[in-house]
Amino acid sequence: MGRRRGFGLRTVTIDRAHASGRVAAILLARSAVAVAPIDEMRAMTNRVGAIADIDSAAFAFSEQGEPSLRDVIRRLRDEGFEDIVLLPLFLPMEPSLKAWLVRVLSRWRNDEPENWPTIRLAPAPMATAVVGAMVEEMARAALMAESLKFPAKTAAEGSMIPTQKHRVLFCMGGPCNNAGAPAVWGHFRNEQIRLDLHTNGEGTVSAKASCLGPCSLAPVVQVYPEGVYYGGVDEAGIDRIIAEHILGGKIVASLAYAPTRGKQRLRPAQTPPRDK
Ligand code: FES
Repeated sequence: MGRRRGFGLRTVTIDRAHASGRVAAILLARSAVAVAPIDEMRAMTNRVGAIADIDSAAFAFSEQGEPSLRDVIRRLRDEGFEDIVLLPLFLPMEPSLKAWLVRVLSRWRNDEPENWPTIRLAPAPMATAVVGAMVEEMARAALMAESLKFPAKTAAEGSMIPTQKHRVLFCMGGPCNNAGAPAVWGHFRNEQIRLDLHTNGEGTVSAKASCLGPCSLAPVVQVYPEGVYYGGVDEAGIDRIIAEHILGGKIVASLAYAPTRGKQRLRPAQTPPRDK
């Protein structure tokens, strides 16, 4: 028999074998960089942290924004949490999210297998009874709200043409997405801000792309002006691409794949772990 823990919206059963340690909750959103949405995350996290069976609560972002999911899981593991519940705040929530999470968590666990906590996933927001009521309440409130005011004239906005030497494309096609591309993209964007890559090293811009071609090498990143394809890129690979290629001017040969006119597979060291 498992013991039962309340998670506010519903009660889930936790195996005794998995519930011996302290429990942490992570509220997971896609991305945020501005102060206001981060404050919203903080407020929601405080509510979850007040639930009796949750010993600690934190928030994280699956793409851009800090802290990243990987960093929060590492911290909680280092603090001795053995049981983590993940609350995905995605509305709507892609059915592939669970497979994506299993893929990236497997990769991170394989990188650092010691003291890896048990991780369980909360139901999607739409699966809870309150989301329907929330939408109804929003609709009723909107009926009472003032209409938006529009200025009589809108001034044409100007844009800067960035000084850039490198453009980094992150494939977000299906296979790359499933192989963890959003987390890799988020890690790059956080590093881009931290290292000021827009201007550092002659300038670097980055963008998401649809399928770049070599899906078997997922996650795929392409760096211009050389047009180099990198395959099986994870966070550590991004750190090398930034340090060696973007800032150092030297292609990272162990991650790069040159055109051969034949089909290529990921080299063994980069082959992603199988879903368990
Ligand atoms: S989906 Fe990424 S290369 Fe095709």
